[in-house]
Amino acid sequence: MIHYKYMILTYGCQMNESDSQRMGTQLEILGYEKTLVLDEADVILLNTCCVRESAENKIYGKIGEIKHLKQAKHELIFGIVGCMAQKEGEALFKRAPHIDFVLGTNNIHELNNIINDIKLSRHHMTKLAPADGGIPQEVLPPSGNSLSVWIPIMYGCNNFCTYCIVPYVRGREHSRPMHSIIEETKKYSADGVKEITLLGQNVNSYGKDMPEGDFADLLYELDKIDGIERIRYMTSHPRDLNDKVIETIKNSRHICTHFHLPVQYGSDRILKAMNRGYSLEYYRKLAEKVRKAIPECSLTTDLIIGFPGETDADFEQMLTFLRQMRYDAAYTFLYSKRSGTPAATMDNQVSDSVKKNRLNQLMSIQNEISLQINEAFINKTVQVMVEGPSRTDASVYTGRTSTNKIVLWQKNGTEKAGDILNVRITHPQTWILKGEAQYAKEK
Ligand code: SAH
Ligand code: SF4
Ligand code: F3S
Repeated sequence: MIHYKYMILTYGCQMNESDSQRMGTQLEILGYEKTLVLDEADVILLNTCCVRESAENKIYGKIGEIKHLKQAKHELIFGIVGCMAQKEGEALFKRAPHIDFVLGTNNIHELNNIINDIKLSRHHMTKLAPADGGIPQEVLPPSGNSLSVWIPIMYGCNNFCTYCIVPYVRGREHSRPMHSIIEETKKYSADGVKEITLLGQNVNSYGKDMPEGDFADLLYELDKIDGIERIRYMTSHPRDLNDKVIETIKNSRHICTHFHLPVQYGSDRILKAMNRGYSLEYYRKLAEKVRKAIPECSLTTDLIIGFPGETDADFEQMLTFLRQMRYDAAYTFLYSKRSGTPAATMDNQVSDSVKKNRLNQLMSIQNEISLQINEAFINKTVQVMVEGPSRTDASVYTGRTSTNKIVLWQKNGTEKAGDILNVRITHPQTWILKGEAQYAKEK
């Protein structure tokens, strides 16, 4: 019997990772097997991102590469799904006629129908519900023996930060019913899953559109489920992170003490132009509150460099802010103009060379801070959840702390993925902590 194979290449954020897992499950129901070799695949999906131009360019490059595969194997089915599919729609066929179908962000559940249709008719096909056309229908959770799974808890975004394309391609906020998330989590727990990551563009506004409860209530309920050792979530909008959520995390058994609170910029003038809905003063107080409630927590952020109108004075303020905040890590992005967003037509766009120069300055300051923070872990023992062998050396194992720090150690024991292990840190670095496993204390 011939086994037909599929491969999904995923770009962008965790929401896309989650959608890809769920599309994988659907394809397996159709009888396809997963492959990691592009040439072997009978169905290739590109799950795309359009948050920055660089992402789009990379994806167009990949679309081009797949042309020769399609020429060599005519029965190959090639589909574009995700955010760029939603944004570009049928225009993708003009640019690349070898694409068979385009599936929008709210049409994931129609994947198998479209594949069956393509097999019969071989025409360019599109399924594109309007981005804000309602709740994407529930798709089966991924099968399999994973240790860690993504769980979407809400879709879309209502915030319309002026630089961002996401609300246009993902539509308005819709929360998934709480009972459905709880049931899904219980099923994972029974399957041996140890870590869940709740996903949404703004998880703190979970539940605002339904009566069942809010984000804190959801966290409280999920924390009660035995077997799930770690509960993570992303992303938290600073404006909507309230005391109830902080208290719930503080009093929980399994909710991770990592706060990813994207500030985006370090000057009030730019924050306002970005439509972020908070001031630096508000953000500082919030971070203080979190650190006071949960002193062992880690704090990370996203920053955009080169937003239109950014001056040297804004940038200096941002550097001062960064030195004050002392983030464990900052994910930095060069501002990318997204047509259709308000910032795209703002005056005083910043040149690429100025942006890059500022980015380098900012990164060298942040790297120094990250290293200092990590150096304080020397000789301290941290608790990690084991993930397995590291990529480069099978005898070196890796895991993460509740605060999301990556820890590496030489494996000398019987630890396996999912175990909780104590590791004494001996060699802290900017991005990782290296240490020695403390087997005597293993649970
Ligand atoms: N909803 C999440 C993140 C969405 S996109 C949040 O609000 O935090 C992930 C990150 O990409 C954002 O935090 C932002 O830092 C960055 N980003 C979004 N649009 C961008 C743009 N046009 N140019 C550069 N970075 C951008
Ligand atoms: Fe984009 Fe802002 Fe929504 Fe995040 S909160 S997805 S940055 S519009
Ligand atoms: Fe990209 Fe869409 Fe996520 S634009 S960042 S994949 S929501």
